[in-house]
Amino acid sequence: MLKITYLSHSAFLFDDGTTRLVIDPFLTNNPNAPVKADDVQVNYVILTHAHGDHLGDALAIAKKNKATVIAVNELANYAASKGVNAHNMHIGGGFNFPFGRVKFTIAHHGSSTPEGEYMGEPAGVVITMGGKSVYHAGDTGLFMDMKLIGAVTPLDAALLPIGDNFTMGIDDAVRASDMLNAKLTIPMHYNTWPVIEADPEEFAQKTRDRGMDVRVMKFGESITL
Ligand code: NI
Ligand code: MN
Repeated sequence: MLKITYLSHSAFLFDDGTTRLVIDPFLTNNPNAPVKADDVQVNYVILTHAHGDHLGDALAIAKKNKATVIAVNELANYAASKGVNAHNMHIGGGFNFPFGRVKFTIAHHGSSTPEGEYMGEPAGVVITMGGKSVYHAGDTGLFMDMKLIGAVTPLDAALLPIGDNFTMGIDDAVRASDMLNAKLTIPMHYNTWPVIEADPEEFAQKTRDRGMDVRVMKFGESITL
């Protein structure tokens, strides 16, 4: 069992009944955030890259909860330099944590902090927890190796950006869902600001037309895989 809660933008909470983790917790200054950073209780924080709309409240949440930040080496070192526990990984590597497995994958994007310091490569991540495997694409353009990600780990769900401008737009995300072949596709990274306005129902319809199962999650909504 894996319960997934959508905290808007690219932020998701995963809960297997024992361990709770949050991915890319951008809540403060996020107009769609359904919860405050102070109310997030987790054991781990996973980061795909250092941009402000992903790093977000990660350090504050990690400090308050004594949670471990899991990220690629450069970003994990940055987190550790700010006084939080960190587990350094890198793209292509997986690690078996007490709650399950985390494996970082490629993403075509950037990864500078809000101060402009570069934090290594941006990433996507495959998380296996509660007997389910979920791919969070981070911020990325479309790439052919998504086919490989879905082949290496059969996916119960894929979380894909659809907002365009900084990441894949709807049509590229539809192609991505085809290649990943996850049992369920969930759109993210849209409607936070005007520049990434997108209609998730258009994405859902186009993806369903290809025979894939889609779920448009409301901000704050939970589903159980
Ligand atoms: Ni980004
Ligand atoms: Mn972003």
